[in-house]
Amino acid sequence: MFIIKNPYELQCKIKELKLQGKRIGVVPTMGALHEGHLTLVRESKKNNDITIVTIFVNPKQFGPNEDFNSYPRTFESDKNKLEKEGVDFLFYPDINDMYPDGYATSVEVESGIVNKLCGAKRPGHFKGVTTVVSKLFNITLPDNAYFGLKDYQQYLIIRKMVKDLNFPINVVGVPIVREEDGLAMSSRNKYLSDEERKDATLIYKSLLKAKNLIESGEKDAQKIKKTILEILTQSKFSKIDYIEIVDPENLEEVSEINKSVLIAVACFFGKARLIDNIVIKI
Ligand code: PAF
Repeated sequence: MFIIKNPYELQCKIKELKLQGKRIGVVPTMGALHEGHLTLVRESKKNNDITIVTIFVNPKQFGPNEDFNSYPRTFESDKNKLEKEGVDFLFYPDINDMYPDGYATSVEVESGIVNKLCGAKRPGHFKGVTTVVSKLFNITLPDNAYFGLKDYQQYLIIRKMVKDLNFPINVVGVPIVREEDGLAMSSRNKYLSDEERKDATLIYKSLLKAKNLIESGEKDAQKIKKTILEILTQSKFSKIDYIEIVDPENLEEVSEINKSVLIAVACFFGKARLIDNIVIKI
């Protein structure tokens, strides 16, 4: 596995491989890799000749009071995991490689899908994401790019950006990978104490209960949200950021459930802000 820090160096290598007709897959990450990330890597390995993983904790997507400084950084163990998976290139830039002095450009999707859910709670977050992902796409020149559907809104926004800006890239959304007890895998699970970790399983339990209610005929979104809230507040550690039932394509709120919906939850357990979601097909 080649480890490259310099964007220009990686871009030159990938250009050469593309001239040889190689198909390129990229898995953008912020490191602290878990099985969810490795599932994206395996998906890329299956469908491409060359797989690039990027590890960059992007300061532009963190708000002033968020966890940029404490975000887990576990480079040695990440590198070993990626080597085992047979990744071809690991792009691991420093902040100055990505945002040198005088850097001044942003990419922003101006669509209703940006200001809802996490976008409403984390102003500027998705602008930071689309800016860095555009740069990563231009540096890695992928045919296919892989994103986890735990970040469902991020996936929709990146898909929209790729369409609007004519990036010649296929964006692939990969289903959520869960721990045995249902907790969605996340680098931020590392923040949880043992007790918080146990209670965090309430998130997926509440989503399954909602699914169950809808499948038994409940159509009132308010009632479903109330049930989710009741389950989440069983924990003394939880603080709810949002519980939303929305259209999976445009993220518009749904009040009567008579077609497929996305149920999305963001909730703090201690200092860990966790998100999870479920799509219920009708
Ligand atoms: O999903 C993430 O880990 C990040 O938002 C991403 C896509 C790597 C951009 O920094």
